[in-house]
Amino acid sequence: MDLFEHQAKELFADYGIPVPRGVVAFTVEDVRKAAEQLTGRVVVKAQVKTGGRGKAGGVKVADDANDAVAKATDILGMDIKGHTVHKVLVEEASAIAEEYYFSFLLDRANRTFLAICSAAGGMDIEEVAHSTPEKVAKVAISPLTGVDRAKAREIAAAGQLPEKALDGAAELIEKLWCVFVDEDATLVEVNPMILTADGDVKALDGKVTLDGNAEFRQKDVFEKFADKAAEDPLEAAAKEKDLNYVKLDGNVGIIGNGAGLVMSTLDVVAYAGEQFSGKPKPANFLDIGGGASAEVMAAGLEIILSDPAVKSIFVNVFGGITACDAVANGIVAAFKLLEDRGEAVTRPLVVRLDGNNALLGRQILADAALKGVELVDTMDDAAKRAAELAAAGV
Ligand SMILES: Nc1ncnc2c1ncn2[C@@H]1O[C@H](COP(=O)(O)OP(=O)(O)OP(=O)(O)O)[C@@H](O)[C@H]1O
Ligand SMILES: [Mg+2]
Repeated sequence: MDLFEHQAKELFADYGIPVPRGVVAFTVEDVRKAAEQLTGRVVVKAQVKTGGRGKAGGVKVADDANDAVAKATDILGMDIKGHTVHKVLVEEASAIAEEYYFSFLLDRANRTFLAICSAAGGMDIEEVAHSTPEKVAKVAISPLTGVDRAKAREIAAAGQLPEKALDGAAELIEKLWCVFVDEDATLVEVNPMILTADGDVKALDGKVTLDGNAEFRQKDVFEKFADKAAEDPLEAAAKEKDLNYVKLDGNVGIIGNGAGLVMSTLDVVAYAGEQFSGKPKPANFLDIGGGASAEVMAAGLEIILSDPAVKSIFVNVFGGITACDAVANGIVAAFKLLEDRGEAVTRPLVVRLDGNNALLGRQILADAALKGVELVDTMDDAAKRAAELAAAGV
């Protein structure tokens, strides 16, 4: 999960990392109040989860509250790389002497953590890294030893930070490492990390990515920083039910067992859809995993049916540890469960069962004679039939 700058700074402040005082505002009236409260020169900063805001005109210095309102009027509602600005951070303007770059990240290719540091920070860091890579220090961090103050100083020195900034930078870097580890982040970036006219080192920007795989042990922070407004309602509902669901923009609902099988199901459906009018495409990714119980099947069908774009559903199961007869029973029970709840399945369903106990599974479905359910033997033929039904249903 990516955090907004103001959230990253809130997190930094919890760890004692110096950040400018700031207030989040959604309207120009709020911006005026915030600027009056902060007094003096302020910076109005677009809060969007993408970089390059400054270059896009999303970061502006204002002399006073009136000026802040004028700047915020331009920034609120602005589009930055496809992200609409719904809120701004109004922050006290810092007296910047120098701008540096610093980040910790997970270096997947080298299977380690990495610190990146440069004295040439600020908005042109990408260009610096491209044309003068020697100015950007990359230091591998052992997860066993981590980063203490001495290591932090070594990283800052490798980034060619000046002597006068080393102590402050080392303190900040050591604390950023605590954020990185304790919060299960895969990225903590501060660009710029500044040296102020008074000789202090501060985090003037913050980008944090939290590892979604660690959500189970970081529930509080995920809950606190969740961007509910941006979440797809179907995906949110699926998450509540612990389903592995991703909304796509087509009209063939997909249910499968195993992520690999579901991925290839998306491919065959998209391919089969090419030959029908409207070119039907997959409406979602949904992996119901190994133990496809009736409850899980019902939960999956329920999510898919609540997507009004779905015109047909393709259930593609390869029986392994969970045999096809169990899945077939799951489908039958799911239909009953949904019907009892007054949410009967009304859109056509194509089922392909293969693998462990496939014949028995097919027999169970044939005997149940569920309305709108068709059994097709192969994955390609089933994909084609589901696409055909979706095309006819539009
Ligand atoms: N509180 C502040 N006081 C003074 N200047 C600031 C302040 N915040 C930002 N700036 C200036 O604006 C520039 C851009 O701000 P910032 O780095 O936060 O946004 P950005 O352009 O989106 O960065 P990135 O591309 O790294 O996401 C900074 O490099 C700095 O010079
Ligand atoms: Mg920045």
